[in-house]
Amino acid sequence: MSATDLLHIREIGVRFGGLVAVDGVSFDVRSGELVGLLGPNGAGKTTLLRLISGVVAPTTGEIHFRQERLNRLNSAARARRGIAMSHQIVRPFRNMTILENVILAAGSDITRSPWRAMARLDRKRLRETATNCLRMVGIAELADKMPSTQPLGVLKRLEVARALATRPQMLLLDEPLAGLGHAEAVLLADLIRDLNRSGVTIMLIEHNIAEVMRICERIVVLDNGHKIADGPSAQVMSDPVVVDAYLGEGAADA
Ligand SMILES: Nc1ncnc2c1ncn2[C@@H]1O[C@H](COP(=O)(O)OP(=O)(O)OP(=O)(O)O)[C@@H](O)[C@H]1O
Ligand SMILES: [Mg+2]
Repeated sequence: MSATDLLHIREIGVRFGGLVAVDGVSFDVRSGELVGLLGPNGAGKTTLLRLISGVVAPTTGEIHFRQERLNRLNSAARARRGIAMSHQIVRPFRNMTILENVILAAGSDITRSPWRAMARLDRKRLRETATNCLRMVGIAELADKMPSTQPLGVLKRLEVARALATRPQMLLLDEPLAGLGHAEAVLLADLIRDLNRSGVTIMLIEHNIAEVMRICERIVVLDNGHKIADGPSAQVMSDPVVVDAYLGEGAADA
């Protein structure tokens, strides 16, 4: 394991009953990288990020983050060490404002119960952190709105802000651009690139290949739970094995 590796994954795998969702995947992510994670539907992308965030426990293999073995740590412990994940399906708390949603996420690293975190004396600090995160994703002026009144583009940014609120070193983004129109997807992709340039290491699942190729220098591709490619974006996307994997599913989502 090299000292410049932030994340070090070896032969990681998980089985759900008879289905091997991720099978013997190995790769490293260096500090400061922005890595695209591609693959057809059901390839194991979300499961791989969940293995990293600690939501899913591996059946095989090893995960190290900053030289520390993570295997036995739960997701709260991994969040405290600097790993945050945003989700494919946005589910904000509907009875709270946009700001309160981010405050809750900002406080969730303090105690296991986010509700107790809300009541803590350092509410002012949490509010500042949350406001700052909303500013970073460009929706600070919507802080007092209810999520239900907002379009998907805003909710997608809110989801990224919630992940940022834990001040992660590594951000795992699961299809942040899904469902957005072209202009909005470009804006959010720019924002992800800016976050990366500000020092956050990012792993990004996306079906929007054009945007992944635009902002990611490196792409990892999964198919059927296996890693089938890993390297510079243009090289990976012209690899016949990768082209085959996408054509194999009718390139429906590509
Ligand atoms: N908790 C679970 N229990 C059982 N099977 C699961 C579970 N999570 C995922 N799977 C299965 O594992 C496989 C990989 O799923 P995963 O969600 O990781 O794919 P994905 O690459 O993210 O796909 P998509 O692009 O559709 O989001 C699928 O066959 C899925 O049905
Ligand atoms: Mg997925």
